[in-house]
Amino acid sequence: MEVIIKPDTHAAARLAARKIAAVIREKPGAVLGLATGRTPVETYERLVELRRTEGLDFSRVTTFNLDEYVGLDPKHPASYHAYMEGVLFSKINLDRGRNYLPDGLSTDVPKTCREYEDRIRAAGGIDIQILGIGSDGHLGFNEPSSSLASRTRIKTLTDRTRKDNAAFFGGEDKVPRHVITMGLGTIMDARVCILMAFGRKKATAVAQAVEGPVTAMVPASILQMHPAAIVLIDDEAASELKRADYYRWVYDHKPAWQKD
Ligand code: F6R
Repeated sequence: MEVIIKPDTHAAARLAARKIAAVIREKPGAVLGLATGRTPVETYERLVELRRTEGLDFSRVTTFNLDEYVGLDPKHPASYHAYMEGVLFSKINLDRGRNYLPDGLSTDVPKTCREYEDRIRAAGGIDIQILGIGSDGHLGFNEPSSSLASRTRIKTLTDRTRKDNAAFFGGEDKVPRHVITMGLGTIMDARVCILMAFGRKKATAVAQAVEGPVTAMVPASILQMHPAAIVLIDDEAASELKRADYYRWVYDHKPAWQKD
């Protein structure tokens, strides 16, 4: 794991966007794995800016989102379909036939999940996966106790996650209980994973995921087993890491050829 600690969210978002842009420039038909939520918003804003200022070309890019609420209309403002449309898809030059999110309205969820996995495979696998972390350590919507080898499937949200996301729905009771999410095994197949986390509220989950044991009780800890996982966080999210000074030193002294 490479742990990169930036002083604030702006610097972290700029770096994440630069890393995604580098993948697209190197491979114009890249496959991006995307997350929703508060954490990646600024990264998507920076990508939109790179489209505008540098002509970053998304026309051959394919995207797969991590998750979607079950039973929520894609037009519902809190759906992840609507989120992606609003923050990114409508603002860049994507080929609209190549943006995939799980279908929360599916009438055959197991089939939908199988087809999602097939589609990722047929696209050649995910080149770079953007991830956030739940305050309970979830990754995608793989809540604590999720199988570390899981594939795309239905999951039930914890009360804590429903509370964390209540603001988007105007109350906890309105947050759906079920979601379709890529599994931890699906996420681990991505060639590169970037986990982002900002703010004091994420500090415990980040410390458990990075420095604790690999355990299904902290699903994000599975990234310790990933050969190319980057944890990109701000000072506050890093505040419970025991080896924060070491990670800072390593990053500041990377050989020039390794710099991002
Ligand atoms: C979103 C997702 C979740 C979020 C996590 C953090 O697609 O899969 O794992 O990344 O719940 O959410 P925020 O960023 O809102 O704190």
